[in-house]
Amino acid sequence: MSKPNLEEYNFKQKHLLGLADYSAEDILYVLEQAKTFREVLDRPVPKIPTLRDKTIVNLFYENSTRTRLSFELAQKRMGADVVNFSSGTSSAKKGESLKDTIRNISSMKIDMVVSRHESPGVPHFLTRCVDAVIINAGDGAHEHPTQALLDMFTMQQIYPDLAGKKIAIIGDISHSRVVRSNILGLIKVGAEVTVCGPKSLIPKFVSALGVNVSHNLDETLAWCDIAMALRIQMERIGGGTDLFPSVREYHDTFGIKMDHLEKYPDFMIMHPGPINRGVEMESDVADSDRAVILNQVTNGVAVRMAVLYLLSGGARI
Ligand code: NCD
Repeated sequence: MSKPNLEEYNFKQKHLLGLADYSAEDILYVLEQAKTFREVLDRPVPKIPTLRDKTIVNLFYENSTRTRLSFELAQKRMGADVVNFSSGTSSAKKGESLKDTIRNISSMKIDMVVSRHESPGVPHFLTRCVDAVIINAGDGAHEHPTQALLDMFTMQQIYPDLAGKKIAIIGDISHSRVVRSNILGLIKVGAEVTVCGPKSLIPKFVSALGVNVSHNLDETLAWCDIAMALRIQMERIGGGTDLFPSVREYHDTFGIKMDHLEKYPDFMIMHPGPINRGVEMESDVADSDRAVILNQVTNGVAVRMAVLYLLSGGARI
């Protein structure tokens, strides 16, 4: 699929709520733009003041390490004024509603809101409460669009054209927002996707999204160009550990092992983090030269810079 021209493409999105709302061209355009920012990050002084007139709030109602630091770093690298909100230390603990919280924050003249919340649909709700640009940094098990964009950017570093590339996503497909955004994005740009995991962790509707389903790790690894492993989202499963017999058995059946790397010498390994070493993969697999997991993290800053830049109106860099 041909990539949109940075000078000519008419990017019309106001928010980033999910990749469901972005066309293949929008996605490829963001990824092209991110390349420019990836180069900025390699400079001795990795800063450009494009957002110096913008104020951004990071509204985090759920735990986060990578996503939150990555957004904050991206914002600071671009000179924005940044304020951070954590539900654990805010008046949300005193009973204030989300709507009141966001309206109060918005009265402080905020241009953009980066939102993470355990409930699906919160970013959509925020667009109806305030005028600011809303960026979804994860809404429950629904979408995590910037994660999928940084994953696709990392895949493009290995395979510049993702059309026809074979991507396996292995693990807890039912409770993952990362998988949903990745499927939506990857299918739009013409990649082939197989989801792999125990039957109990793969929802029936997933084939309707245009992916193949497998319950056999060996077959999947033999097939794919890239294998992305996902954490079992225990916090969303609650008491339902009967979804698989034990973490140990899960690892025996669906964990990527050093033996797999020898047997199938071609596939590369990704993981959005946080990794549970010894569950999704053996610890040595995560540290092997077949894994691009830390590249994903570096690329995350560039991709978020691109998203912030484009949604802020895209003044000339
Ligand atoms: C993911 C998330 O929060 O959905 N992590 C991330 O953003 N890097 C995946 C996960 O928590 O397993």
